[in-house]
Amino acid sequence: MPASARLFFGLPVDRDLRATLSALAQKVGEATGGRAIAAANLHATVAFIGSVPRETIADLCAIGAALTAGDVVVALDTVGGFRAARVAWIGPAHVPQALVELHAALTSLLANAAFTLDPRPYHPHVTLARHCRRPLPRGSVEPLPWRVERLVLYESVSAAGGPRYEELAAWTLTRRR
Ligand code: 2AM
Repeated sequence: MPASARLFFGLPVDRDLRATLSALAQKVGEATGGRAIAAANLHATVAFIGSVPRETIADLCAIGAALTAGDVVVALDTVGGFRAARVAWIGPAHVPQALVELHAALTSLLANAAFTLDPRPYHPHVTLARHCRRPLPRGSVEPLPWRVERLVLYESVSAAGGPRYEELAAWTLTRRR
């Protein structure tokens, strides 16, 4: 097992919405000439940690366990693409306060523990396709309500067909106060 791991905190697309977003990912992949994200990999990143020594996994688990969060319900109502990254995504036009607070609390705990974080503003999104040959035009779609159930600490593991995201730890968000 390598001494370092590529890690991030994310919100998995669970249950009913997984099939819906997976079908949308297929369509978006075809429309953009890209590769649809596998159903099991659909998630929204909250904080990207990057490659760190495996010993830090215990610290990250303690941080995840220390978080308190209310119900996070996200209306996925906007699609678009990040042209430079050649990805297509779906996200919310309005980021709900509970997610703003979850992101702020998590990044503050991570910064206090000396993890280096992406300084760019937080734009939560679920990536639907990668390696897009054509950008997905930005547009509104019929809102898909996403009740986020869990916060997960993921390890991104390289594999032949693209990365696989393994759950190292998970914390329930709903009914957590
Ligand atoms: P993306 O979906 O927009 O590519 C695993 O790579 C997850 O971490 C992806 O959801 C990816 O976002 C996100 N991520 C955020 N910052 C990243 C970075 N600097 N490098 C790679 N992935 C990053």
